[in-house]
Amino acid sequence: MKNIIISVDGASSTGKSSLAKALAKHYRFKHIDSGAMYRALTFYSLNHKLIDKNHFDIDTLVSHLPTIEIDFSSDDYVMLNGKIIEHEVRSMEVSNYVSIVAKESLFRKFMVTKQRELGKRGNVVMDGRDIGSVVFPDSTIKFYIEASMEVRVKRRFLELTQKNVDISLTDVISNIENRDHIDSSRDDSPLVIPKNAIVLTNNEEGLSHLIEVAISKIDSLF
Ligand code: DC
Repeated sequence: MKNIIISVDGASSTGKSSLAKALAKHYRFKHIDSGAMYRALTFYSLNHKLIDKNHFDIDTLVSHLPTIEIDFSSDDYVMLNGKIIEHEVRSMEVSNYVSIVAKESLFRKFMVTKQRELGKRGNVVMDGRDIGSVVFPDSTIKFYIEASMEVRVKRRFLELTQKNVDISLTDVISNIENRDHIDSSRDDSPLVIPKNAIVLTNNEEGLSHLIEVAISKIDSLF
């Protein structure tokens, strides 16, 4: 039987990764956080001083691509050249630059090839911005997650403060707004609601309600 692919797309901090993780656990599928892959490449760029406030050395990063291996551990943590960097890729510094890296077509092609390869390894839940629209347009089922700005800011702020990151609400809001703008206005694979996607809203009813609704939609297919 063909691999089952569940795609979960949406803007940052809408809860799509938490939903994807919960669905993967429920169905014993692999969870692939495609955003973590763009974050890993951004982490690499920052470490190699290829990106900063004033410049982004795209050509050098392109020349390094054959030596960059982005993958996932058996427990779904993102790895860069064999090393788990799940914690490092969540830093505010990576968040501030990741959309700039992710808007370049050459890097998107690199990721899409890898993501399709990962999708061939078995049943997966993959979350991101272009999974149902570009990476797997024939996904078994597609979800698109929406949430109000208030819910998103709360989620992101809590996530960061729980990790002891010293951050103001204003910085969280401006990072979310900035990434929304870049992710939705870029030329290559902008964030869109994929064709035939089921749109779910992550609201006050919370994540467990969202998970229940998504599971009932998936179960109704089989
Ligand atoms: O889901 P996230 O916030 O961790 O994603 C980080 C960035 O990566 C996001 O700003 C846009 C980009 N991204 C993308 O362009 N395509 C994807 N499939 C996943 C993420």
